[in-house]
Amino acid sequence: MMNKHCSASHRQLELIFCSIGCSIHLFTVVNEFLKFPVRTDIIYDYPEKMIVPEIDIILHNIDLLNMTALHLKYPNKMTQICEHFVKISNFEMNSIEDCIKFLKSYYERSYHVGKMLTVDDVEKLDVDSLILNFVAKEVDFVRNDLCSVERYFNAVNTFLRVSCREDSKQIERRLVRNIVIDDGFCVKHNIYHSFGVRFAHPNSSIDAHVLNYLPLERGEGENLFTMLHYREITVESKEWPYQTNCRHYQKSQIFSKCLREKISHSYPGIVQLEDVIQVGQYPSDFKFDDLKYDVNETISQIKSGCAELVKQPQCIEKTYQTQGRSAREKGSGIGLICVGNLIDFNINLKTYPKSTFTELLIYISSILGIWFGISIYGKLIDGFIFPTIPQHSTQKVDVVPNVESTSIHD
Ligand SMILES: *[C@@H]1O[C@H](CO)[C@@H](O)[C@H](O)[C@H]1NC(C)=O
Ligand SMILES: *[C@@H]1O[C@H](CO)[C@@H](O)[C@H](O)[C@H]1NC(C)=O
Ligand SMILES: *[C@@H]1O[C@H](CO)[C@@H](O)[C@H](O)[C@H]1NC(C)=O
Repeated sequence: MMNKHCSASHRQLELIFCSIGCSIHLFTVVNEFLKFPVRTDIIYDYPEKMIVPEIDIILHNIDLLNMTALHLKYPNKMTQICEHFVKISNFEMNSIEDCIKFLKSYYERSYHVGKMLTVDDVEKLDVDSLILNFVAKEVDFVRNDLCSVERYFNAVNTFLRVSCREDSKQIERRLVRNIVIDDGFCVKHNIYHSFGVRFAHPNSSIDAHVLNYLPLERGEGENLFTMLHYREITVESKEWPYQTNCRHYQKSQIFSKCLREKISHSYPGIVQLEDVIQVGQYPSDFKFDDLKYDVNETISQIKSGCAELVKQPQCIEKTYQTQGRSAREKGSGIGLICVGNLIDFNINLKTYPKSTFTELLIYISSILGIWFGISIYGKLIDGFIFPTIPQHSTQKVDVVPNVESTSIHD
């Protein structure tokens, strides 16, 4: 009797020990699972076809502005700028023509010119003739007939987005690595001075940074042939409840929309100097200003407020990395920007769940197996090969129902 009691309490202790151990183990595993961790695979891919991307061109407003007209419009401001430069540089200025030449000679100075402009001054710059508008196909590989131009600007730069579509669908080119199958695809332009070009994804916002464009330069009457290539980089994340917790939205658009709304609320009549806007988006008498130097720091508060809105990563982010070369020569003045084959593999960073629900079930059943020795296999053996449970052990089953099933046959 004594012995039996002792064995029963021993088993109870065992049960308690195993239950606690098992619970901790289960908790750890389930807790890890409930964090919904992800793993990321990097996939390199050379696709069978590519699309003709959007061609973004950056121009310097200072090259397009008629400074003489600007001087007539803002005589005082122009004189102020000129005097400022006379003071800080050794530059000698005898007339306003000298000053205009001086201002036009370096892009650095276009910042100061930008600050005296209104939306209207930039909006009415003539850029329509820069991307030639053919109604019909000129030659097989120059396809301006398929392309339309949308125009964007800020105080310092004007941006042209050239979008080419065939039957309102994106144009596809067949690809075989290292072999050229389809004709080239080029757009003819009439742009001189210094400018920049890059490829962009449809729906992406305009990149305002001049350094993200391939720099090009063209003098009077010169030919300029530019061949650009791209590789697509895709980052795919997983939505809640996965750790990456991404959202299907257009992050940069939401951020700039938020900035724009808050700025026009706090600074009526002002457009931030670098903000890229479209024709008609603001009343034409709005002025450009650089709010970064606002001593009251309203702008940095606005920025951090808007950053809160876009903390979550975007679920699918596609970008194009552009590479290119250009050849400049004396000639009759032909300007071409061409889309070359992909030269490199596309990169896709894709996240997957680190553990699936099936794996969780396997973990749970193996944990139960470790702590209580429960196994399906054991159950089946019990049920089918030894269908009758020996008489003497039924009592034990009553005491500790959970632990018994396999230990019976020890
Ligand atoms: C620039 O503006 C002035 C004054 O309005 C005008 O006389 C001149 O023709 C303009 N120059 C160009 C190149 O349009
Ligand atoms: C661009 O946006 C439109 C409308 O929001 C959408 O229908 C289209 O699929 C998007 N295109 C790409 C390539 O993401
Ligand atoms: C900064 O704030 C003060 C007081 O709120 C205000 O008087 C001043 O006009 C503000 N300055 C600017 C540049 O907004």
